[in-house]
This record gives sequence, C-alpha cells and structure tokens, in this order.
Amino acid sequence: MNDNALQAAIDQVHAARLGATPVVRTFFDEPTNTASHVVHDPATRRAAIIDTVLDYDAAAGRTSTASADAIIQYVHTTGLSVDWRLETHAHADHLSAALYLEENVGGLLAIGREIIRVQEVFGRIFNIGSEFARDGSQFDRLFDDGSRFAIGKIPALALHVPGHTPADMAYVIGDAVFVGDTLFMPDYGTARADFPGGDAGQLYRSIRRLLALPDETRVFLCHDYKAAGRDEYAWQTTIVEERAGNVHVHEGVSESDFVAMRKRRDASLGMPKLLLPSVQVNIRGGHLPEPEDNGIRYLKIPLDAL
Ligand SMILES: [Fe+2]
Repeated sequence: MNDNALQAAIDQVHAARLGATPVVRTFFDEPTNTASHVVHDPATRRAAIIDTVLDYDAAAGRTSTASADAIIQYVHTTGLSVDWRLETHAHADHLSAALYLEENVGGLLAIGREIIRVQEVFGRIFNIGSEFARDGSQFDRLFDDGSRFAIGKIPALALHVPGHTPADMAYVIGDAVFVGDTLFMPDYGTARADFPGGDAGQLYRSIRRLLALPDETRVFLCHDYKAAGRDEYAWQTTIVEERAGNVHVHEGVSESDFVAMRKRRDASLGMPKLLLPSVQVNIRGGHLPEPEDNGIRYLKIPLDAL
C-alpha cells in the first residue's frame, strides 16, 4: 500500500465530479446476495462488468446462466462494448460467470495480483495438480495497488484492500468506488475476515483507506443481506454515510475494538454454503475443472480440511 495510490484516487473522484461520471446498473442475485455491476462511460459506451454470478444448484451439481444472461441482454440492448471484466476477489459464496461472459461479450479479465497467494493456499487444500498454474495466468491482467486503467474516457484506478482475503481490490471508476467485500451497507457493517489468509486488522486498515475518499464518492457493494428492520436489498451508499454511520467501523472505532468485534462475530458465522464449489472455480478465473475421461467435470470436497 502507498498513500500515492490513495491520493490519486481522491484526485480522480474530485475531477470526475466536474466532468463525466459513469452510469452504473446493478443486477442483484438473491440466492447468493450478490450485486453485480455494469459500469459504462455514457460518451463512448465502453463498459466494465464487476463480480458476476454463475448460477449453481448445489444439490444437483448443476450450473446455469440466467443471472449472466440478464447482464448480457442489458449489454446488448444498451449498446455497450465491454472492455473489462473485473473481479474484486476470489469469491467464496458464488461461482463467477467470468468465462461465460468472455464468450458472450468479451473484455479483459482482471483481479488483484495477490490472487497468486490465494491460488497457492487453495491449490494446496484442493490438491490440484501442476496443470493448475499458481501464477495468475488465468487472468488477463493482475492489478497492483494504484494500477490505472480506463472505461472509455473515464479514468479508473485499483486499490489493494486486503483483509477479507489477501487479494481484495476496490475499483475507483470516475466518482464511484466498487468496494467488493470490505464495507457493506452502513446498517449491516463489514465483511468477515476469517477465511484462509484473512486478517481483521488488515481489513480495518483497508477500510480506513476507503473512508479517506471524498465524502460524496458513490459506494457500490458486492453483497447485501438486509439489516434487521430493513425490508429492501440495497447496494449503494456514499463514503460520508459509511464514515458517519457504519455500525462496525464508523468514525471513532479503533482498530483493536474492530478486531475484537470482528473476531467475535466471525466465530459465530458458519461457512458460506457455496464456499467449496466457488473457490475452486474462482481461483481458475471462472474455468470449471477439466472433464475426466467420461466427459463429466467434477468439483472436489475436502473433508475436515477447513
Ligand atoms: Fe467474498
């Protein structure tokens, strides 16, 4: 991490608010509580798609594409050209539709460089052979903290925000930030930090960095679970609302208080029900394992390993 990357992100948000801001359309997948975002530059109609879902029926071991098809249809009817498919991290609660989207709308697939560490850890747990390269080569681009890219004429910047996993990135696109699994809605709090490679203190410091963005920065989340007393799903807020009101990490909460809260809460959470299927697909950049000699693909379930 370096403060130059954060300063560049702050400058970018200020500049964007004087010029063109990206259009964001969100698709919410209720079975996995996941928000996928299609972001585009209205001047050029160039687009990025962030964190997509391949539908998965765990009982039947069956994948399907209704969620991704809705995004593809929107891309076509809106006349968008997809330059990027961005993953904020290797998700543990849904399979990524990155591969299916590549076949249908194209775009480069990008994730944070630390995905290599996640590939090493889970490559070991799943005992995947040497045919699985643990070098991030399943992705077209690996972002570092401060890496710059663009959606049409709208500048964009990647921030490394580890803690939930070692590889989490937030994407600052124009005046909007896509925070992945760091912050949730202010009334719901923050992401868990107890997966392999997770670290609550690191998550706190990553979140503090995000909260240093300008007040009016639009914040788009990766998940929502409806907080108690709220009947509607929500996936958009602002930095000032998070800083003032996030129940876990509002202004004034210290790192030690946060870490104690996070550890207590994480100890009470069960594993996400799609963790094992999701991770072994997502560390492969959305590729399913190769079929065996009978033509059928298999996912593995490690017993008593997590
Ligand atoms: Fe996650």
